[in-house]
Amino acid sequence: MSNSPAEFTIQRPVFERSGAVRWVVSHATQHWGIIIMLLIGAFGNAALAAVVPLLVGDAFNAMLKPVADTSVLLPLALLIGGTQILRGVLQLGRNFGAELLGQRLEREIRDEMYISLLGKSMTFHSLQPVGDTMARATNDVREVNLMFSPGINLVIGSFFFIIMPILAAPRYHPALLVTPVAFAIVYFLALVRYLKTLEPISDEVRASFGEMNSHLSESLDGVETVKGAAQENAEVEKFIVNAARVRDAFIRQGDTEARFIAFLLYGIAIAAGLTHALILFRMGLLNTGQVIGYFGLLRMLDFPTFTSTWAYTQVSMGLSSARRILELMNRENNLDQNTAGDAGAMRGEIEFRNVGFGYPDGSTVLENVSFRVKPGRTVAIVGQTGAGKTSLVKLVNRTYDVSNGKILVDGVDVRDWNLAALRSQISMIEQDIFLFSRSISDNIAFGRPGATRAQVEAAAQAAQAHEFIETFDQGYDTVIGERGVTLSGGQRQRLALARAFLTDPRVLILDDSTSAIDSATEDKIQRAISAAAQGRTTLLITHRLSQIRWADLIIVIRKGKVAAMGNHEELMKTSEAYARIFRE
Ligand code: UTP
Ligand code: MG
Repeated sequence: MSNSPAEFTIQRPVFERSGAVRWVVSHATQHWGIIIMLLIGAFGNAALAAVVPLLVGDAFNAMLKPVADTSVLLPLALLIGGTQILRGVLQLGRNFGAELLGQRLEREIRDEMYISLLGKSMTFHSLQPVGDTMARATNDVREVNLMFSPGINLVIGSFFFIIMPILAAPRYHPALLVTPVAFAIVYFLALVRYLKTLEPISDEVRASFGEMNSHLSESLDGVETVKGAAQENAEVEKFIVNAARVRDAFIRQGDTEARFIAFLLYGIAIAAGLTHALILFRMGLLNTGQVIGYFGLLRMLDFPTFTSTWAYTQVSMGLSSARRILELMNRENNLDQNTAGDAGAMRGEIEFRNVGFGYPDGSTVLENVSFRVKPGRTVAIVGQTGAGKTSLVKLVNRTYDVSNGKILVDGVDVRDWNLAALRSQISMIEQDIFLFSRSISDNIAFGRPGATRAQVEAAAQAAQAHEFIETFDQGYDTVIGERGVTLSGGQRQRLALARAFLTDPRVLILDDSTSAIDSATEDKIQRAISAAAQGRTTLLITHRLSQIRWADLIIVIRKGKVAAMGNHEELMKTSEAYARIFRE
């Protein structure tokens, strides 16, 4: 048996998953050091930006004295130069901190999501489109990164730029607080409204993108079928419709952004502030340098105004993405690993007791199935297409769980087994064999990553695969194309058998319903399968009469029920349904 732990047993710190904002915050607060650097950088940058208009105002006053005092000019200029260099350093700290935070979170969230996805049950995966999952795992995770850099980086930066005029204006006259305070209040009120309007639009942007992606990945996955049916145009049409939905959502987002009143607000603030300062000047409460300094302070508001149109969109998009990632991770997970369950070595006795089963979204597939296999025996499962053969064997390793009755392995209910122990001792070769885009030897050694080349070759020999592997230029190092497309059905099947030889499971399940191959290959596969069945309990779904014949037990499934059961001789006498298979 393989000793490699199942991926889903990996434990990671659990982040707060009750809401998108809380979740993002619980990730971010893992990095207090960076957050403090970001805050210091942002505050310092804004404070030193405010120094410029203040010093310029002072310079004007020095020049406007009855006898112009030019001696202050050089020190002032040097001071401005020095502070701005320092400001550059602080700005770097702020940007660097935000970028670092964004990248770290992106990596952490990706890890968290990957672990969560591998831990999900098959029920989850068979209902969730791969393209949509991919969109969430790539683009949405990226959006969360962008939410921090530039998003939150600029939001924090803007916040301090709004605060600075409020802190500095009373230096000239307390009444000058009116304009920056009024700006801040209206700005925040408008912002809250803006974000509320934006939220459903951002959700729509992310969702339509996910849908476009899942459709695209499906038609690329099935491109052979699409071309075979000459449906390229129809698929393109569907894609165009989806792409148009994404475009419309983005346009609606742009439209909302364009309506945000920040620029109007900024214009009004500049005009009102200047008028106010001039009135105070007329009243003799301010001098020229102070008016100029104050005007410079108000000009600082253009940074929050300018960034507001897109920085908040970025945050809104990031939150939409965080919601989508969370939704996927939080979606009900029926998989019960049962780590405390039975983890002993398996003998390989299998018993079905009144098993009933239906897919979560469908009608009953299996009813009242009962049989028992002693360790080491071979069972052939036969029946028409759609009878429920594949569904039946998938219940043994808990790919799906029974709806009624129970399945016992070595007398223990499969649900009472430790899931990793159960699955690592049962090898399943599926109807459509999946190969990874890795080398042949990696594919064979998949269930047992530490295997040596000699062990891999021995397994390939036993599976009758060695010969054809040797015909490739790179032999065992040949990389198989995406989804194993460069191999024939018969070759794939033998690779899968080699995989099973290497993991040496107690129970082998072989779903071999659909393979029509030439007789030479047929013969090889035949031999490989009988070798694989030696010394282990084997459930064999097959149409090959020779294989059915030598099985210890044959189960005929008809419409989800056991129609007949016994060995070849018995069934030929007693079962009309069975005899019919051989007559055809
Ligand atoms: P099976 O896939 O168990 O049939 O589906 P089978 O006997 O192995 O058929 P072949 O020989 O490979 O073609 C049994 C029933 O379960 C439904 C199918 O529609 C079928 O009626 N089914 C199968 C689902 O509802 N969901 C699934 O994910 C798979
Ligand atoms: Mg099947």
